[in-house]
Amino acid sequence: MKRHLLSAADLTLEDATLVLDTATELAQLTERATVKKLPTLRGRTVVNLFFEDSTRTRTSFELAAKRLSADVINFSAKGSSVSKGETLKDTALTLEAMGSDAVVVRHSWSGAPVNLSRFIRGSVINAGDGTHEHPTQALLDAYTMRQRLGRIEGLKVTIVGDILHSRVARSNVLLLHTLGADVTLVAPPTLLPVGVDQWPCQTSYDLDAVLPKSDVVMMLRVQRERMGAAYFPSTREYARRYGLDVRRVQTLSDDAIVMHPGPMVRGMEIAPEVADGVRSTIVEQVANGVSVRMAVLYLLLGGAEPAIGSDDQ
Ligand code: NCD
Repeated sequence: MKRHLLSAADLTLEDATLVLDTATELAQLTERATVKKLPTLRGRTVVNLFFEDSTRTRTSFELAAKRLSADVINFSAKGSSVSKGETLKDTALTLEAMGSDAVVVRHSWSGAPVNLSRFIRGSVINAGDGTHEHPTQALLDAYTMRQRLGRIEGLKVTIVGDILHSRVARSNVLLLHTLGADVTLVAPPTLLPVGVDQWPCQTSYDLDAVLPKSDVVMMLRVQRERMGAAYFPSTREYARRYGLDVRRVQTLSDDAIVMHPGPMVRGMEIAPEVADGVRSTIVEQVANGVSVRMAVLYLLLGGAEPAIGSDDQ
């Protein structure tokens, strides 16, 4: 493994498989234990540096670090010196001076984590940067697919919606390609990025044609907060062409699953009955996020220490 996790492309097939296997092992250990904590990262400090709103990802990283007994500092841009004009570099150097071993960063600027990694001696983990990448989301999605369907290689994965603004889509395409899945992106032409033809996947504008061939359907939120102009005629028109409703779900094969990274807009990209239905993995994805982030923190920070320590260490 590299020292930082900045992009899903940082992970080789061996690295990604190691993260997924370690996450499986950690999930079993925490399930079995009466006390959910492992001593593995005792004495280490993890800083959560969030410059953008987040519910799931921040709490998931916090819980993951705490389950490994690390000390956690939650740092949000509001109320910090960042709002007084301090640069990202100075903030990072301050945190490092306090002895942080890993910085988990979310920022609206694509490239912020890469930038940060140039100044920081510890590990930098990208928790979502602008429209660029969100590698731990892709890892938890892959983990969920493997858990539900038993494999990733050869799966037909369809990712639907606002690909243009989605760091989740970009990281998923890269990781799933490494893991041997076959990805198709479905979106209106206005919500596909320029240069998508260079990505290792297919594209389509026709959801109904792709659904019956899919093993996994991953729905994405339309990220209005990143949109200046109108990218589609109306919410209703979007839902009609690209929303996953009950009728569309009936065209899926028996074992196909429905995923969503959250936060979802019920009734727009996904019908409530579908979000809460048996094929939906949405709640599992959140739970799996903790195990996968534990694995990432452990592998980046645990170094040469024995695999997974026992309580009497
Ligand atoms: C996503 C994100 O922030 O990139 N959510 C997440 O991390 N679970 C997707 C989104 O905001 O729609």
